[in-house]
Amino acid sequence: MSTELDIEIDFAREIASLKRELNAVILAHYYQESEIQDIADFTGDSLQLAQQAAKTHASVIVFAGVHFMAEVAKIINPQKTVLLPDLNAGCSLAEGCPADQFEFFKGRYPDHLVISYINCSAAVKALSDLICTSSNAEKIIRQIPAEKKIIFAPDQNLGRYLMRKTGREMVLWPGSCMVHAIFSEKKIIQLKVRYPNALLLAHPECEESVLRLADHIGSTTSILNFAIESPAKEFIIATEPGIIHAMSKKAPEKIFIPAPPDSSCACNECPHMRLNTLEKVYRSMRNRFPEIDMDESLRLRALRPIQRMLEMS
Ligand code: 13P
Ligand code: SF4
Repeated sequence: MSTELDIEIDFAREIASLKRELNAVILAHYYQESEIQDIADFTGDSLQLAQQAAKTHASVIVFAGVHFMAEVAKIINPQKTVLLPDLNAGCSLAEGCPADQFEFFKGRYPDHLVISYINCSAAVKALSDLICTSSNAEKIIRQIPAEKKIIFAPDQNLGRYLMRKTGREMVLWPGSCMVHAIFSEKKIIQLKVRYPNALLLAHPECEESVLRLADHIGSTTSILNFAIESPAKEFIIATEPGIIHAMSKKAPEKIFIPAPPDSSCACNECPHMRLNTLEKVYRSMRNRFPEIDMDESLRLRALRPIQRMLEMS
């Protein structure tokens, strides 16, 4: 929505000046608006963003992503200011796994190791032995001794995909992503008929019925790299369509078609990710608010499984 502020302020220029003033770094996920990706110091997937947060020397981290991502940056950097342009930018996976219910669930499997997908709250991370992202989950699971039983939370689609890939049985928390779970298998098949040369690239948060049709399955970075390196010219993209911005920049001659959801919409944007706008990035830097704040004992408990992930990645 356009405001008076839009007309008066060159947000990109003001953000650049605030960046110098605050000694700030702007980290953006691939699902952010194109104009946010364009002014970010680094755009990447969840693992790359956590790795960038772990190595930055900036005093302020502006996290253009969702709450759990900014929370990870704060857990790693308690002394730094971590700003999230819209504090309401949540995640259906994190919200679908409340810590008290997860603790009860975990209590039913006392001899299991808990591996949690990074898309969860700090409180759930604190109940976990290991964290993973979509780009390192398989590698991490393969490092766990075969006799060790595993609980995987909170994404059951990613969990099932990992079970098929690694041959490991895991107990799954029954959560899913509101974006990836609603891609329409039927509409994707129709698109494949219309674009017979197009390859289907899918994120492992998608339902099994969609993954079965995919020519490549991987994290946002993996999908991006595949699209650039592949000799194919047309791709159907079954993940949040924000990634298409980076694809079109790196391979402008190729055609990227967003996979449609099971609704009347043509593409499938994450309503949480899209709460952030360039104006909100600017305001958060100008006001040093909203800032991520965290209880120190929770932070320390959530830090351990994240550190293990960074070491094992
Ligand atoms: P990756 O960043 O690991 O590709 O995961 C995508 C996602 O859904 C983040 O919310
Ligand atoms: Fe969460 Fe799905 Fe949005 Fe990613 S795309 S932030 S998993 S709701």
